[in-house]
Amino acid sequence: MKGLVLAGGSGTRLRPITYTGAKQLVPVANRPVLFYVIDNLVDAGITDIGIIISPETGHEVRSALGDGSRWNASLTYILQDKPRGLAHAVLVAKDYLGDAPFCMFLGDNLIGTKIRAAKEAFLATPTYEASVMLKEVPNPSSFGVAELDAQGHIARLVEKPKEPRSRLALVGIYFFRPSVFEAISEIRPSARGELEITDTLSRILEKGGTVHWDAVTSWWLDTGKKDDLLLANDTVLDAWLEHDVRGAVDGESTLSGRVRIEPGAVVQRSRIRGPVVIGANARIVDSRIGPFTSIGDGVSVVRSGVDHSVIMENAHVEDIARLEDSLLGRRVRVQPGATRAGALALLVGDDCVVELARTP
Ligand code: TTP
Repeated sequence: MKGLVLAGGSGTRLRPITYTGAKQLVPVANRPVLFYVIDNLVDAGITDIGIIISPETGHEVRSALGDGSRWNASLTYILQDKPRGLAHAVLVAKDYLGDAPFCMFLGDNLIGTKIRAAKEAFLATPTYEASVMLKEVPNPSSFGVAELDAQGHIARLVEKPKEPRSRLALVGIYFFRPSVFEAISEIRPSARGELEITDTLSRILEKGGTVHWDAVTSWWLDTGKKDDLLLANDTVLDAWLEHDVRGAVDGESTLSGRVRIEPGAVVQRSRIRGPVVIGANARIVDSRIGPFTSIGDGVSVVRSGVDHSVIMENAHVEDIARLEDSLLGRRVRVQPGATRAGALALLVGDDCVVELARTP
C-alpha cells in the first residue's frame, strides 16, 4: 500500500502564520504536525509515500521532510498547482499511485490512534472500495459529514452541511483502491470550486461500491485554526511527552511534571510546570512556564509567565506577567516599550490578532 499525504492547500484559517510558512509545519510539542503523520504511516508499514505540495510552500515542506530516510521511508513530492480540492490532489497523484491501494492522510490532521489495524482490515477485504474513519463531533457543520442508513452503513456524505443530519465527521484519513480515479472523473467541482472527496465517496456509493467505516475512539484534531492547534499542543504534550532534561537548569529553578528541555537551553530562577517542552538554545530567565506550553528553539522568555501556548522559534517575551492561549510566530517580540503609561506601541502584520486583558 502507498501513502498520499496532502501538504498543499492555502491555510487561510491559520493566517498570519501561513503567510510565511506551511500550516503542516507548524509545531505541536515542537515537532511539525506533518512528522506525526509520517510516523503513523510508517508505523503501519506504509513507507512509499507521495507528498502533495503547493508552489508557495513546497520547498519548505521538502526541506523539512527530506527524502524520508529519517523514517526509512521513500518520499516523492508531487506538485499541485492550486488547491483545487482533496479529490483533485488524488488526481494529480495518479501516475505516482498507479494500481496500488493507498491511504490518503491530510497533512494537518493529528490522531491518537495508529492506523495499522484499519489498513490491514482494508487490504484484507477487497470488496471495500474505500474505507473512512468517522468521529462524533459537536460541530458537524465544519466537516465532511456521513449519514448512516438503518443498518449502520454509510448512505450519504455531505461537505460542511448547514443542517447536518448526523454528528459523524470524516476524519482526514481515507483508504482507496484505484477505482477512485473513475469516481473522480465523474464528479464536478462544488460550489466552492473544489473537487470534493465527499462527492467522490458519494459517487462510489451511487455506483454500488461499499464505503466501509471505522469509528475513531481516540482524540482527533485538525490543526488548521489557532484554537485547534493549541488544543492539539495540549493533547500531544499530555499524551506523548516524556520527561527528559538535557539543557542547563540552575539550582534556583524548579521543574514539576513532565518537562523536556533540549540541549543548549538554559533555565534560570524559573518555575516550569509540565507538560512543557523547551527547545534547543532557548533561554528562560526569572519566569513561569506551563503547563501545556511549547517553547521553540532559540526562544527567550524573561521575567514573564507563559501557559497553554505555542511559542515558535526565536521569539522573545519579556516583562509580560501572563501570556496564555497564545500562538506566537517566529521572531515575534512581545515586550513593554511604549513611552506613555497605558499606551500601546504595535508593529503588527496583516491578519494578526492582539487580545489584551479587559480593563475591569
Ligand atoms: P483544508 O484545511 O481543507 O484546506 P486549506 O489548507 O486550503 O485551509 P483553509 O481552509 O484554512 O484555507 O485542507 C486539508 C489538508 O489538505 C491540508 O493539509 C491542506 C491539504 N490540501 C491540499 O494539499 N490540496 C488541496 O487542494 C486542498 C483543498 C487541501
